[in-house]
Amino acid sequence: MMVEGRKSIHGEWSSRWAFILAATGSAVGLGNIWKFPYITGENGGGAFVLVYLLCIAVIGIPVMMSEIMLGRRGRQSPINTMRTLAREEGRSGYWQLLGFVGVLTGFLILSFYSVIAGWALSYVVQAVSGLFEGVTAERSGEIFGELVSNPGVQLFWHTMFMGMTMFVVARGVREGLEKAVRLLMPALFILLLILVGYAMNSGGFAQGFHFLFDPDFSKITTEGVLTALGHAFFTLSLGMGAIMIYGSYLPENVSITRATFTVAIADTVVALLAGMAIFPIVFANSLEPGAGPGLIFQTLPVAFGAMPGGLIFGTLFFILLVFAAWSSAISIIEPVVAWLVESRGISRRRASMIAGTVTWALGIATILSFNLWSELKWMDKTIFDLLDYLTANIMLPLGGLLIALFAGWAMRSSNSRGELGLQQVSYRRWQLLIRYVTPIAIAIVFLNAIELI
Ligand code: PHE
Repeated sequence: MMVEGRKSIHGEWSSRWAFILAATGSAVGLGNIWKFPYITGENGGGAFVLVYLLCIAVIGIPVMMSEIMLGRRGRQSPINTMRTLAREEGRSGYWQLLGFVGVLTGFLILSFYSVIAGWALSYVVQAVSGLFEGVTAERSGEIFGELVSNPGVQLFWHTMFMGMTMFVVARGVREGLEKAVRLLMPALFILLLILVGYAMNSGGFAQGFHFLFDPDFSKITTEGVLTALGHAFFTLSLGMGAIMIYGSYLPENVSITRATFTVAIADTVVALLAGMAIFPIVFANSLEPGAGPGLIFQTLPVAFGAMPGGLIFGTLFFILLVFAAWSSAISIIEPVVAWLVESRGISRRRASMIAGTVTWALGIATILSFNLWSELKWMDKTIFDLLDYLTANIMLPLGGLLIALFAGWAMRSSNSRGELGLQQVSYRRWQLLIRYVTPIAIAIVFLNAIELI
């Protein structure tokens, strides 16, 4: 059964396309272009990519359908949506904890996400000032090193990026965001194609391609599988309420399944293109695929520095990367702001100020973890590593597990079926995935990972 007449107090998307663009804007971000290549490099390539693609297909897609469905049915911030839906289904009020964990996860993710987006911002300036012209791989590494060893510079760009994010969130996500994403997403896509074209002629393409798509299962570890699972959630913006809140602005007549597939495919294509652009450059310049979070910042300037028109392409690329990160950042903090507005009765502007300030302050820990606090480690992980690990590898899959359990088991079938609007056969398929495959797969990966500790 659909619930008639429930409306979000925060408004609604103007059309199906507006939602697809916004959700794609949320999904496509640093996760695809910055994180996917470097974790693929750290985890040995092909086999990791395969596990990641499998996680997207059998876990990511059904969870995304569920998360959008819950959001559209509840029409409120994730915390209040979960409370309302649990009551409606006669279930425990504890389900709203799902929303609370999501809010916390959002703060933590954005705190480091904004620092990395700040790197991208600073690279716009470096690219446009011609710093990358004719740059060697070694010099490019030094430029990156200078950036991350300087807390002041990073703080400046982190502050700028948080300012940009909160500016949009304060005005409401539908204004501006819809229009920006419509233009920028295709532009980013085209620029990636140009980069892949360049990489094809860089001399390292065969090796890069082989690294990405030729699975060598001896290279995959338990930790690698956990990282692939976590990244499937991270890259699709799942497990913390971002897609749920976007779903809550979704008009009733839109097909959730079609929207989900469009977003998931676009997101995956962008990640694979980023990989195909970066690894050939890595191998052509004898760089280290497992170089870590600096990977794209160390490799891409070498490519831009050598190609004709590199100044323009390089500048454009980092501008588009900032925009991709921007439209993701907005969605990370939106559940928090919507919840503050709903439950505290404060204005959107105030709520954005509060959420933004807290996140900004948390971000300082990430900045310092690359320099002054780089020796501060726990289980061999810096503060940045820990934040990334805790959120992407643990909190998001846990959120996804709870979403799967609620959508698959706690909710009446008549309700989920009506909301998803699926035919009998497709509905059964979704139900099989969400009831059994998703929870069992997440549980197995978790149980294996516990042994690591
Ligand atoms: N999906 C975004 C990316 O790939 C990050 C994100 C995570 C956004 C969680 C929202 C929620 O960059």
